Formats: sequence, structure tokens, C-alpha cells
Amino acid sequence: MSQLDPQKLPVHLAVIMDGNGRWAKQRMLRRIVGHQRGAETVKMVVEQSSLLGIKYLTLFAFSSENWSRPALEVRGLMTLLKKYIRQETARMMRKNIRYNVIGNRTDLPDDVNDTLDEAIQKTAANTGMVLTLALSYGGRQELCRAAARMTEDAVAGKLSASDITTELFDSYLDTGALPDPDFLIRTSGEMRISNFLLWQLAYTELYFTETNWPDFTINELHKALAAFQARERRFGMTGDQITERGDLSKD
Ligand code: FPP
Repeated sequence: MSQLDPQKLPVHLAVIMDGNGRWAKQRMLRRIVGHQRGAETVKMVVEQSSLLGIKYLTLFAFSSENWSRPALEVRGLMTLLKKYIRQETARMMRKNIRYNVIGNRTDLPDDVNDTLDEAIQKTAANTGMVLTLALSYGGRQELCRAAARMTEDAVAGKLSASDITTELFDSYLDTGALPDPDFLIRTSGEMRISNFLLWQLAYTELYFTETNWPDFTINELHKALAAFQARERRFGMTGDQITERGDLSKD
């Protein structure tokens, strides 16, 4: 654990928490039990990320496509989410963590939205880590929402085609106030993005582990972060340019 360089941690860590269902199936348990165990891993990752000084943590907790799951599982996930937020808000206050949500909140049940609003409001002045939950979230859907809002602004005469830059587009996304993720972890051996943060992941370092989310441990998190620290991020430049930039920044 001590090998991590605190200066070289991701500013923004994003996680696709996959494998809850398989974890449960392997143990002949109901899928919701896998999600419940997954919520325990969420607590650990939130606590560790905040302790390490990571500024932004974004968790893919429920996708736009997850609505197609059996109604019982969807209801179970919504109940779990509500319970988690209610239980954890006091800890978020103690750890100075601020809640944030991205995704299509109009699809969420009213009671979940009320719980989220309360937690967001209560933690709004916290200045530590920003914990973003992606709920009813899909990257393509987010891009469409952004395009629709830009069109509305264009029709209202507040925006013209020549104003459209990557920065402006960024500001219309749900993540407008967040920097792009530096590092993405996906558990359970699947090597895909699954409609998560499609625009924002353009230069993100990707990390995949075979471990199912409920089994993901502190040691695994540290191992993943150590792997991030060994990566050379070039953002389209050459390795030599990056080395020179690094040398200059030491002056
Ligand atoms: C993917 O595993 C996981 C989800 C769809 C839900 C993630 C939810 C949690 C980790 C718990 C609640 C979240 C919070 C923030 C408290 P899967 O069910 O797709 O697994 P499988 O691919 O093995 O079936």
C-alpha cells in the first residue's frame, strides 16, 4: 500500500461496478444479495478514495439499460440505493464528502429522488471529495440531452453554430462541473465501456480486473492505483514531449 505516490493519484476516478449478479449466482444466492454485498464494497472504495485524497469519485450505480432487468431486481436496487444514501449521509458529513448525481433523474421513483435531493442539499457545502452516482445514466442519452438543450438555446438565440467548441459542449453535459476521469476501473472481467461517460473517457486510462465487485478489496484498489501510476499519459503527444514537459514542470 505504501508504494502509492500521493502526487500521482487520479484526480477523478470512475468505476464500473460489475459482477454482483455472478458473485451471487456462484454462491446460489439471490442477485440482490450480490448488490447488497456490492454496497459494502462501495463503502470501502468511497472511504479509501477520500482518505487517499482523490477529488472526484464517480460510480456507475444504475444504467439507462438496467431498467430492463426483472422488476423485482430493479425495485431491490432502488430500495438498496435509498437505504445506502440515508445510512451514509452522516458519514459523508464527517468525511466532508459532497454527493452529486448524473443521469436521467426523471426516470427515478419519487422517493429515491427525494432521498437524493436531501443528501445533495445536506452535503452541498462539503469541500472534500465529490461522490457522483450515475443513476439511470447512459452516455448516449446524456449526449442527446446535451444536444437537445443546445438546440433549445440556439432556437432562443442564445447560441450559434460558431460558439460550439469542445469546452462549450462539455458544459452542457451532466458532468459539466467535473473534470474528465483520469482512471476507470471495471470489475468482473468484462472489457467494455457499456455506455458509461462516452465523451468524458476520451483520454482516460482503463483498468480491468477479473474480480467481481463484491470481492474487490482495499488491496485490489491500491493495486489498480499503482498500475495507474505506472502509465504514461500522452494525450496525443509523443513520449519525448511528455518527458520534456515533466522536466520543465520540475523547474
Ligand atoms: C452490475 O452488476 C451492478 C449493478 C447493475 C448495480 C450496482 C449497484 C451496487 C454496487 C450497489 C448499490 C450501489 C450503491 C451506490 C449503494 P451485475 O448485476 O450486472 O452483475 P452481473 O454482470 O454479474 O450480473
